[in-house]
This record gives sequence, structure tokens and C-alpha cells, in this order.
Amino acid sequence: MNYSELVRPDVLNQPIYEPGKPIEYVAREYGLEAASILKLASNENPLGPSPLGLEAAQRALREAHLYPDGGCTRLREALAQKFELAANQFIITNGSNEFMTLLCQAFCGPGDEAVMGAQSFIAFKIGVLLAGAKPVEVPMPDMRHDLDALADAVTERTKLVYLPCPNNPTGDCHSLAAIEALIDRLPDHVIFCFDEAYAEYSDDAPDLRPLIAAGKKVVCCRTFSKIYGLAAFRIGYGYGAPELMALLNRVRAPFNVNAIAQAAAIAALSDHEHVARAKAVNHAGMHQLTQGFEALGLEYRAEGGNFVLLKVENPAQMFDSFQQQGIIVRPLKPYLLAQYIRVTIGTETQNTRLLKCLEATLHEGMSNSPPDERPSK
Ligand SMILES: Cc1ncc(COP(=O)(O)O)c(C=O)c1O
Repeated sequence: MNYSELVRPDVLNQPIYEPGKPIEYVAREYGLEAASILKLASNENPLGPSPLGLEAAQRALREAHLYPDGGCTRLREALAQKFELAANQFIITNGSNEFMTLLCQAFCGPGDEAVMGAQSFIAFKIGVLLAGAKPVEVPMPDMRHDLDALADAVTERTKLVYLPCPNNPTGDCHSLAAIEALIDRLPDHVIFCFDEAYAEYSDDAPDLRPLIAAGKKVVCCRTFSKIYGLAAFRIGYGYGAPELMALLNRVRAPFNVNAIAQAAAIAALSDHEHVARAKAVNHAGMHQLTQGFEALGLEYRAEGGNFVLLKVENPAQMFDSFQQQGIIVRPLKPYLLAQYIRVTIGTETQNTRLLKCLEATLHEGMSNSPPDERPSK
């Protein structure tokens, strides 16, 4: 018997998450200097990590021989202060990705369903499938979540309904009133999971804390990977009812978040300067890129978050051409958005480089003609 015959069938059916290509890998593949490569593939912070977070991490390294605080007490207290909630309303996880896995493991199993948009962030589907439950993928007309259709898809088997705001990759976000109307339609056996990975980039992100306080079955999750620039540390969190957090705590590994990440996150939370700069750079960068795309006559989608979608006729060639020129972007085939590539918004210099590269590629006629008509090079 081989391992595949022994493994749980859900593991074999599991889609594999395709992360952005690592810099070293592209450097080797294309014979480029790693330092010259620009990675705009994973919605990371182009300004780098929060300097306060980095200093705290360096200090914490000296105590690397000690196990971390398994309950992440100081970080939960800092978050409680920031959000005006209680510390027992938070759980800290190994990236917000782990939060999603824990939620599924705690609440979903064979026979259960979880409702999500067909182009919603892919980690929802992965978590649900691994728990042995069924993802119910609701069409997203015009690449936006249809909140009525999400509610319509709920059955007596539904355990979870997901909504990321803004969504990755489509960028769509919805008003508080529309989200409240969706939550009001959910029966009592359904938990609403609100993914706020990019909320800090927005001035008017919907605030669901009053719904949590009112006893609605609402749980939110956030991350330190994006605006705080701490993606490598793998740290995120969820917040909601204390009872829910206590249940999730039963599912997580004892030391799921390392001490260096905890120290970095605590310090980064008060790094208001870094957050403000990242937000301003992102705002300006979105304007710069969309202006640039318009000048090139390209269709794009730019709503929330720190990324934009660009529509091109031959995304595979565009992707390849970018990589040859040392720029890593993200193709969106796994999201069934095969005509699009996703570009993380960079600094002004980085965006200028991307636009120049895009222009050069289009002039070469690579991305706007079918593969068989490509000029030979
Ligand atoms: C919408 C959304 N949610 C969650 C995450 C996961 O973030 P992390 O696991 O790094 O905290 C991402 C990462 O790209 C995302 O785009």
C-alpha cells in the first residue's frame, strides 16, 4: 500500500495554494541578480517591515531559547486596547490563514457546507475542503460578491459564510449597511466570517464590532502581513465572542505563534508612522498605476487593498515577459480570472519600472496578440 491509499481522501482532493514565486527562484530561473528583482506578487508592503516591529524582533531574538507565551497575552492586551474589546475576544494565529483553518476545523466536518464567493480569497476553500466539508461557491457577477446570492445559498447544512472586504483578488468591498443586511438574513446556526486583511488601507472599512457586541454570530480576522509589513513572521488574529475564542483555542497548537513574531507585532501596532506612510504610498501608487494603465489603453480593476488587476490578452506571455525583466506578478488562473494578472502596488519608483516594462512588452506585441502570432525573438 502506498501513502496515497492510506491518506484521508480530503487530502488528495485538496487544491494546493500557489504562493507568489520567491525572488531567489526567479533569479536562478532567469539568470538575474536577486537584488534586481521586484516582487509585486504577494501584496506585501513595499516599504518593508515596520521599523519598530523589526527592532522589537531583534531584541526578542536574545531570548530565543525560551518557549513563547502560548496565550500571546501581551499582544491580545494591546489589541484589546486598540479595538476597545476584551483580551479574551482575541485569538492570535500563525498568519490569518491559520485562523481560517482553525475556524473550519472547529466548526466544519463531512456533511457541512461553507458559503463563499467563487472568486473569494482561496484560503477559505482550502480550509473547508481540508475539514472534509463542502465549499459552496457563489457566482460573482462583474467580479463582485453578490451578498443576496450568498444568503440565498445558505441551507440547514451551512456552518460558515465568508466575506473578505476588500476581497483578494477582485478588490470588491461592500457598505456596512449591505453587510448588516446579509448578516440579518443568516440563520442562527451560521457563523459569518469577515476577513479584514486589507482594512487598514481604507478610511471607511466597515466596523462589525457593534454586531459582535449585539451577540450576532460574527467573527473578524486581520493580519500583520500587509500594512505592518511582517509577512515573514506569520502572525494574524481573529476577534469575536469570548466563547468562540475559547473554542478556537482548543483547536490550535500549544505554541502556534513564535515569540519573535509576537514581539514584532506588539511594537508594530504602535508604529503609526509606518502605517500612515504605507497607506499614503499605497494611495498614491494606486493612482499612478491606474493612470499608467489608462494611458496604455488597458482595462483594470482597482478598488480596495494594496493591489490592482490588469486585463491583458495573453497573461501567460505577459507574466513571462515581466519575469524576464525581473518583475514578479501574479497570474489569476487559479481564481478562474485567466485574463487578469494581479499587481501589488509598489513605491513610486517600483510602479514606474512596472509601467515601463508593461509598455515595452506591449510594444513588442507580445501580450496583445495570440501566442501563434507572437513575433519570434
Ligand atoms: C484576503 C486575504 N486574507 C488573508 C490573507 C492571509 O494573510 P496571512 O496568512 O499572511 O495573515 C491574505 C493574504 O494574501 C489575503 O489576501
